[in-house]
Amino acid sequence: MQKKRLLSGVKPTGRPHIGNYFGAIKQFVDLQDEYESFVLVADYHALTTLHSQKNPAEVRESIKDVARTYLAAGIDPNKTTLFQQSMIHEHTELAWIFECLTTMPYLMRAHAFKDAEAKNKEITVGTFNYPMLMAADILMYNPDIVPVGKDQQQHVEYARDTAEKFNNLYGETFKVPEHIILEGVATVPGIDGQKMSKSYNNTIPLFGTKDEISKAVMGIVTDSGGGRPENVYQIHKLFRAEDELDALYTEKEGNYKELKEALAEDIEVIVAPMREKYQSITYEELTMVLKQGAEKAREHAATKMVDVRQRVGVTI
Ligand code: ADP
Ligand code: TRP
Repeated sequence: MQKKRLLSGVKPTGRPHIGNYFGAIKQFVDLQDEYESFVLVADYHALTTLHSQKNPAEVRESIKDVARTYLAAGIDPNKTTLFQQSMIHEHTELAWIFECLTTMPYLMRAHAFKDAEAKNKEITVGTFNYPMLMAADILMYNPDIVPVGKDQQQHVEYARDTAEKFNNLYGETFKVPEHIILEGVATVPGIDGQKMSKSYNNTIPLFGTKDEISKAVMGIVTDSGGGRPENVYQIHKLFRAEDELDALYTEKEGNYKELKEALAEDIEVIVAPMREKYQSITYEELTMVLKQGAEKAREHAATKMVDVRQRVGVTI
């Protein structure tokens, strides 16, 4: 039987943290045997952040960092097609075609757009069209599932709607994909108890040094109630089975420092081998993986676009 197909992507902005690992990266690793997988580094999406637009060096570093992170976390390039979005020109081409089917009021309902507008931010056309480029990333490869964090759910809805709209107009062309969000890991809390996010400065870096991780863990906000430190526990349960944890937390009740030290050690057990792998990946290896990934992705994209161009009528 043919395997079902998975596609997902990551925007290369900033340093990956354990929220990204449990919310996204780990799922791709766990699912790559069961699904024919495509994972892209969404570098053109990263350009929507004006900050990175003025920092080509930062963009470059982030792309490499994200790709390295995926390999270090266990993405196997023989099982997963790992590639850079900008290397497949067909994505921006398909995004344009979708933009010509999509109305402004419909895109104005996007949470990301509404948030930016509510904050009176200057919004680029790229930010506004963001969901259309993401729809192109997805629909190009006919995936069955698109595993994403909760914050990306609406974007997958946009892709589904766009597929239906195109199919209605031009005949069955795109598969309508499902999104999947694994329960229990949907939102990893940060050291202050809010959602862990680069933008809140509350992260535990995935590939920080042992000291950096330890420092972040010691900074987890705890109340002075003396019971179970919830913010520590919620992160800890990602790294150790809950029955074991419950015993530990009962034994060390009220002893926040020791519980945090135990958490830092448990993180280290999981992270140390990944960190070693991360550091061992050479630039040559990295570019080779991305080049081979792009070759595979391009084959699919090229075939798809022959069909799409014909359907919309630009092939004379
Ligand atoms: P950040 O909020 O730090 O900027 P991104 O938006 O770059 O993170 O997210 C990259 C991926 O990691 C997305 O799939 C997102 O849903 C997931 N992710 C980010 N933060 C968390 C979190 N705290 N818990 C679970 N998943 C997360
Ligand atoms: N927008 C996603 C994020 O910020 C990244 C992304 C780009 C993506 N293209 C995608 C995710 C396609 C899934 C499928 O996290």
